[in-house]
Amino acid sequence: MAKKKTSAPKEQIGDLLHETRKFKPSAAFSKQANAKKAIYAQAKKNPVKFWEKMAGELVWKKKWSKALEWKAPDAKWFVGGKLNVTETCLDQHITGGRKNKAALIWEGEPGEKRTMTYQQLYRDVNKFANVLKSLGIKKGDRVAIYLPMIPELVIAMLSCARIGAVHSVVFGGFSPDSLRDRINDSECKMLITADGAYRRGQILPLKHDADISLQDCPSIENVIIVKRGDFLLRFKEGRDHWYHRLMQDADNYCKPTYMDSEDPLFILYTSGTTGKPKGIVHTCGGYLTGVYTTTKFVFDIKDDDIYWCTADCGWITGHSYITYGPLANGATQVIYEGAPNWPDEDRFWAMVEDYGVTIFYTAPTAIRAFMKWGREHPDKHKLDTLRLLGTVGEPINPEAWIWYNEVIGKKKCPIVDTWWQTETGHIMITPLPGVTPTKPGSATQPFPGIEAKILDENGKEVKQGGGFLAITKPWPGMLRGIWGDKKRFVDTYWSKWNDIYFPGDGAKIDKDKYLWVLGRIDDEVNISGHRISTMEVESTLVAHPDVVEAAIVGVPHEMKGKCLVAFVTLSGDTVPNEKYIQRLKDFVANKIGAIAKPEKIIFTADLPKTRSGKIMRRLLRDIAMGKVLGDTTTLADPDVLSRIKKRYEDD
Ligand code: PRX
Repeated sequence: MAKKKTSAPKEQIGDLLHETRKFKPSAAFSKQANAKKAIYAQAKKNPVKFWEKMAGELVWKKKWSKALEWKAPDAKWFVGGKLNVTETCLDQHITGGRKNKAALIWEGEPGEKRTMTYQQLYRDVNKFANVLKSLGIKKGDRVAIYLPMIPELVIAMLSCARIGAVHSVVFGGFSPDSLRDRINDSECKMLITADGAYRRGQILPLKHDADISLQDCPSIENVIIVKRGDFLLRFKEGRDHWYHRLMQDADNYCKPTYMDSEDPLFILYTSGTTGKPKGIVHTCGGYLTGVYTTTKFVFDIKDDDIYWCTADCGWITGHSYITYGPLANGATQVIYEGAPNWPDEDRFWAMVEDYGVTIFYTAPTAIRAFMKWGREHPDKHKLDTLRLLGTVGEPINPEAWIWYNEVIGKKKCPIVDTWWQTETGHIMITPLPGVTPTKPGSATQPFPGIEAKILDENGKEVKQGGGFLAITKPWPGMLRGIWGDKKRFVDTYWSKWNDIYFPGDGAKIDKDKYLWVLGRIDDEVNISGHRISTMEVESTLVAHPDVVEAAIVGVPHEMKGKCLVAFVTLSGDTVPNEKYIQRLKDFVANKIGAIAKPEKIIFTADLPKTRSGKIMRRLLRDIAMGKVLGDTTTLADPDVLSRIKKRYEDD
């Protein structure tokens, strides 16, 4: 198999490593922490046994006969075990003393508040599972979910899990085309959506958008619509059903469908370097073990905590650290529908104060936005209930880390910088609060039971310095494949070295064996913590009737981490003005979603190409970053570059 030639993003290393302070855990935190130092050594001695012990804390219908069967790249965890994940997330709490404990404390963007106890959540999940069954959904069927962050999103996911249906959640900010492609790729039989959603005071017409997708989704038989507001919509009799009407008549109890540990639990699409999103498949037993264990030790969850992860369930963070991990631990959590700056920039801090949030998990891009808006917003509120802070989604710059520590955590909350991916299912590299000293900008060390190393191109371990992040042993929550595409699974993750997982990130290891994840080294760009494929944006732009050619590069952005710059060649005599540029950006947003919008579009008569016609994106990136241009000797026409450079600088 062809090996991928890639290079680590060296320009970022300096940025991260100028901060050298080390923060030791406080004795008070350590004393009460769920994780103790010995856990590292115990797990290292026998990682499989460690995971087996943790799996034993979940509810199983039938115990597994073998903990791990590993024939790279295929892993089977808890072989022969049978379970239904909702029994761990719900049933055990109903009978075990948490029946009246708050499971979800929800706030809508316009300000409505709703609390659901474990009993109420259990009842609604059972009822909705019966609804799904009554509309013909069976074990193994795929169900697409396109909802805002409302409790019904969690209910829908768990209801699918209750009957063994495979959910595929599509983020509500994705366009009709993106929804259509995801529905068709895994041939979903049903779509669960809402009449609309609120975002920054605007209404997102979800059902209207879904109707556009459904013009070309032959596998969809039924659509269930949650009524979020009074939004106008078209109702297709026979196909469309109101959630609240169906729930009225549904039975309160639905017997769980027992699944093999290795049966699929969900598919979640993430961007890919070819432009076509990859349907990442996760299974029941291993995934639940991974998210349960990491939630317990990384977030140090206790029964009286109020935990808040600000993610949306449209992303993996919402799957693992809203729906499955916290509920498996019987946690009380806050979920919020809208934007952090609506109606004001202190919305999150007002909520932390209102609910007495103790554990807060967000993204570096959000922290950078809070910094920009100013400390007067958090300073207006009492944040003294907070005891633990977390970040995820992209490298956190030390400046943001220090601000988070001082302004939000008041220097008393450990910060867990957690590295992981859609594909890994759960947290892989992270400090353990109360145990691991932290360094701002470093995700520190592999979680117990995980083996991560820095390797060079040839698979040789780098003991100190930069290289590629590699996961060298199987772990319970690992992806079990890409839906319907085994070859792509092998090519993308398992072809760089023998039997070692390649996550696609560059990283560095320092003299204390601390890991510093530096970012993607492939054609994906991490914008505000979300992965976008430059190929997908390029092919979208080229589909525009005026566009002849396009090249997209990712460049550093103060707030978003990275942003996209597009170099575009137009056909004919189109003269692009501001309005035209906006229209082209909107074209991308309408085709993929707002997060894929290029920050800047530069029009050029030609793109720099090699003599064989390959676009040299590396040189375009140099221009967009104002750097000295790299090697240009292979260019067919070196003058093209100086013209583009001038255009860029004039812009
Ligand atoms: O590049 C890494 C970055 O986000 C990628 C995974 O993105 P996604 O699958 O969307 O999942 C995001 C939420 C888990 C990784 O390949 N990334 C994630 N967390 C960190 C990070 N980069 C540096 N530090 C992190 N803590």
